Amino acid sequence: MSVIPIIPADETRTAPPVDGWYAVGSPEELFGDNDCKGLVLEGVKVGVFRVDNDIFAIDDICTHGYALLSEGYLEGHEIECPLHGGLVDVRDGKACTAPIVRDTRAHQVRVEDGQIFIKLYG
Ligand code: FES
Repeated sequence: MSVIPIIPADETRTAPPVDGWYAVGSPEELFGDNDCKGLVLEGVKVGVFRVDNDIFAIDDICTHGYALLSEGYLEGHEIECPLHGGLVDVRDGKACTAPIVRDTRAHQVRVEDGQIFIKLYG
């Protein structure tokens, strides 16, 4: 008898992680024409951002309030929160401007054979 895993409704469907690394697709699959993408891994909302050819992942929920950074406006390495306009550096989750005063957690990202891998809380 096979076992069908139960995946929470908002969980991003990926293969099980290998050593904690989730394969989330190629840059083209993940981003399409955008440079921001929201995922849910292990119940954690993760914002993934593409700047030129580099990819970064931080917690998607703004530390100031409940807004998804992946729905914000990306300029350079800074994502502008769509709710109150605070800026966060997507490279390390540092809060850059008020009203955001608490840093966002960053996650590890690596790209291998054209696939993006994310490990939570790197
Ligand atoms: S919720 Fe992000 S700046 Fe207020």
